[in-house]
Amino acid sequence: MCGIVGFVGHQGDALTFLFEGLKRLEYRGYDSAGIALATNGAVALAKAQGKLAVLEPLLGTLPRGVPLGIGHTRWATHGRPTDLNAHPHTDCRGTIATVHNGIIENYQELRSELIAQGHTFVSDTDTEVIPHLLEAYGGDEDLLGAVREVERRLSGAYAFLAISAKQPDRIVAVRRSSPLIVGLGEGVNYVASDVGAFLPKTRRALVLENGDVALVTPDAVEIQTQEGALAHRAPFTVDWDIKQAERGGYAHFMLKEIMEQPDVWTDCLMGRVRGDHIEAGELGLPWSQRKNIRRIQIVAAGTAYHAGLVGKALMERLARIPVDVAVASEFRYQNPVLDPGTLVLAISQSGETADTLASVSLARQLGAPTYAVVNTVGSTLARESDYVVYTHAGPEIAVASTKAYTTQLLVLTMLALQLAAERGHARSDLVRALWSLPALGEQVLASLGKIVEMARRLATESDVFYVGRGIDYALAMEGQLKIKEIAYIHAEAYPAGELKHGTLALIEEGTPVVAIVTDRVMAEKTLSNILEVKARGAEVWAIVDAGLPQEWPVDHLIRLDLPDPLLSPALTALPLQLLAYWTAVHRGQDVDQPRNLAKSVTVE
Ligand code: M6R
Repeated sequence: MCGIVGFVGHQGDALTFLFEGLKRLEYRGYDSAGIALATNGAVALAKAQGKLAVLEPLLGTLPRGVPLGIGHTRWATHGRPTDLNAHPHTDCRGTIATVHNGIIENYQELRSELIAQGHTFVSDTDTEVIPHLLEAYGGDEDLLGAVREVERRLSGAYAFLAISAKQPDRIVAVRRSSPLIVGLGEGVNYVASDVGAFLPKTRRALVLENGDVALVTPDAVEIQTQEGALAHRAPFTVDWDIKQAERGGYAHFMLKEIMEQPDVWTDCLMGRVRGDHIEAGELGLPWSQRKNIRRIQIVAAGTAYHAGLVGKALMERLARIPVDVAVASEFRYQNPVLDPGTLVLAISQSGETADTLASVSLARQLGAPTYAVVNTVGSTLARESDYVVYTHAGPEIAVASTKAYTTQLLVLTMLALQLAAERGHARSDLVRALWSLPALGEQVLASLGKIVEMARRLATESDVFYVGRGIDYALAMEGQLKIKEIAYIHAEAYPAGELKHGTLALIEEGTPVVAIVTDRVMAEKTLSNILEVKARGAEVWAIVDAGLPQEWPVDHLIRLDLPDPLLSPALTALPLQLLAYWTAVHRGQDVDQPRNLAKSVTVE
């Protein structure tokens, strides 16, 4: 998703900061980038389609030592990824520049109006209406006043920064849904869509609230609410370790994030599991809500949706609460039946996924309590849900979600165990065993060296089936998404017992099938399904619980030392993640930033 960065100082080199800041935002996924500086009464601009390496040589045309500028990484929504569509965008005179995240829904009507007034547009973007409107409203004379006028004209969910070369001491920042954070320095301030962009410069920051318009100068941040009242947003200290946002010696962020899972599981369990009980207060959902739950509706997207499928199985089996799981982009338009007894549980790593946010907003309108399982502290979802629990996975940089997913699984497990205990189905044996997971995770990761070679074989394929039953099927769903998104191999997850109802016709000599078998109750059944595909020539990669008594007549076997199947999903996810990772590496793909994808999908 697009990234925004801005610099305003009494002195200093905005250009160097902006380029470094954009590099730190690369993980969000982008297809073009650009920088604008306010210099000598005009905006100096460099922008290009492609990665920052394409932009870098163009920066030689920009002046050094200029203390005001804005930068952007764009993920195309309106208009193809081209040089002209890249941000920043300027007005007709080239004195005002803007960068923008999100969508201006009424841009076509505004564009026609501005063209009729004589404005000239050079891009296909929705963004370009902003600098032209600012020009029309006198932005060169009074940037803040013009921004206030302009944002009254815009519909949509967005954030933008504006500068004018005629007022070289200020950035005006607007937040309407998409996140913006101000980094507080000495004689210099920064604005970004993500704290990571300015973390090497300052750890003091404040988060703009929805509707805020901020006038950011080198020494001050003046914030107005949507209604125009002055507002105070409390500064805080960012406690992320910058090292957490670096690769830590691994070839890719994804591999680093896979390998650090046992550590983040510890962070996730910390303070929440004590002996044989869960500290319910640490799950963020008060007793007054927990006791009223008759039904749970999970909403999420992508990997978070797959975590929700596991969560459903856990909560139904342990707590005997009925749970539905919906893809957020569908849920928001389904006219769902909700009531105060239905807890709407939203799961999201970023907390900025547009469809998930819209689902929560709808749930609130319909009177259902909302509860978010989120990784990103201070994210929109966390702030707009009635209750929140954080997964504590730390910053996840690779587009493919790994540690965020398994910490979601752990939080859902703790929640299921707590709800079970409160409904008279306590499983203190499972609660006690939760703390064994980090060590088991280390063991599993240490045992998976052979996956590198197993993946080499898979890397030559173009289609693969993932099969399992029950929770193993939910894990198969996640396994197939991983290999699709980073290895670009077509994959399909199937309930193993359903193959014979049609899909078995596709199995022929050499068809790759990844089978997951951790559920002891259904292991014999899944084995039968494996034999069915083997009999038709399939090549099978099987991930099985080493404690199962069966023999596994497969081509590639991974045995995992697993605890109770209800505690195993996070462990079983590890080989699935590594299989996808190494397959992508063998195929030479851009593992951390797969094509067409973004880390945080803040548009519909
Ligand atoms: O930030 P979220 O968890 O809400 O994101 C949801 C999906 O976009 C995300 O899980 C996506 O499917 C991952 N890239 C998959 O690895």
